[in-house]
Amino acid sequence: MERSSFGTAPGGQPVDVYTLTNRQGMEARVTNYGGIILSLRVPDRDGRFDDVVLGYDALADYVAESPYFGALVGRYGNRIARGRFTLDGRQYTLATNNGVNHLHGGLKGFDKVVWAAAPFENDQGMGLVLTYVSPDGEEGYPGTLTVRVTYTLTADNALVFDYHATTDRPTPVNLTQHSYFNLAGDGRRDILDHVVTFHADRFVPIDATSIPLGPLRDVTGTPFDFRRPTAIGARIQQDDEQLRNGLGYDHSLVLDKGGQPGALTLAAHVLEPTTGRVMEVHTTEPGMQFYSGNFLNGTLKGKRGAVYHHRFGFALETQHLPDSPNQPDFPSTLLRPGDQYRSRTVYRFSVAGA
Ligand code: BGC
Repeated sequence: MERSSFGTAPGGQPVDVYTLTNRQGMEARVTNYGGIILSLRVPDRDGRFDDVVLGYDALADYVAESPYFGALVGRYGNRIARGRFTLDGRQYTLATNNGVNHLHGGLKGFDKVVWAAAPFENDQGMGLVLTYVSPDGEEGYPGTLTVRVTYTLTADNALVFDYHATTDRPTPVNLTQHSYFNLAGDGRRDILDHVVTFHADRFVPIDATSIPLGPLRDVTGTPFDFRRPTAIGARIQQDDEQLRNGLGYDHSLVLDKGGQPGALTLAAHVLEPTTGRVMEVHTTEPGMQFYSGNFLNGTLKGKRGAVYHHRFGFALETQHLPDSPNQPDFPSTLLRPGDQYRSRTVYRFSVAGA
């Protein structure tokens, strides 16, 4: 594995880039700043490699402003209403960084810290073990959280994420990966023609601040029914309260077979028709946030001169459901001392018909 310098973080720590490769020529470049996947080169049906994730060329751009391009998100991925929750009878107040709400870990989430990185190679493939100790009180969260996330690039073109955490006081934990994909390559056009299949019968309806609104909803008869292959753009313009509230798709899908401890379940299949590229998502998590890049608006200048316009990338963030610390009916995100947080997600790449 190759390692090179990516510069210096605002705190003065050196930051590196690690290049993971496999025999099929797939390549992932990962930095220990925020665990960010900088680039991911996968073949199309003619064997042509392109970069299928959005991002920047320089560390300074990630530091200055990034909508979580490629990042490892925590301590809590997604929103916590008003940055408040009660745990064991005590109220906690978190940093608010998304209007009145807390989003993706706060002002300085796990996407903005420097992780310790240890490269490895084994019979599964080649990868990186990222570790970070989040101090008690960081962004308002209780407890020292010791986090270990392993990224593995396998011989059969999968990227595997294994998350592990322990704590010394009870705390909510919800870790995820926030890569923006554009399987056409190089983020040069919108993602509306990507054909997706999601294994979700229900989704979490949200209010205009993206906080859960009432009980889980059946996708039947809604623009959220992706149980059969459907283009992302097929219904995104429909006059629908939920699409209005999310400004497009920005919703948590409840995975049919998700959340059975240790059991990977197929969450999503994505096909980009012009290149034949396919991405499958398997996860142990109960939910997946589907975000159609609604806040991209052409102001961010990306890699190699790319300009990321509206909906030029999408994210499939496997995780627990939003605002779980305040939603007693949702699967719990509470981690207690002595227990272990474990989660696994696999992004597998192939081409259609192969
Ligand atoms: C959220 C979006 C947010 C985006 C980037 C997604 O996970 O659901 O609302 O704009 O992350 O911050």
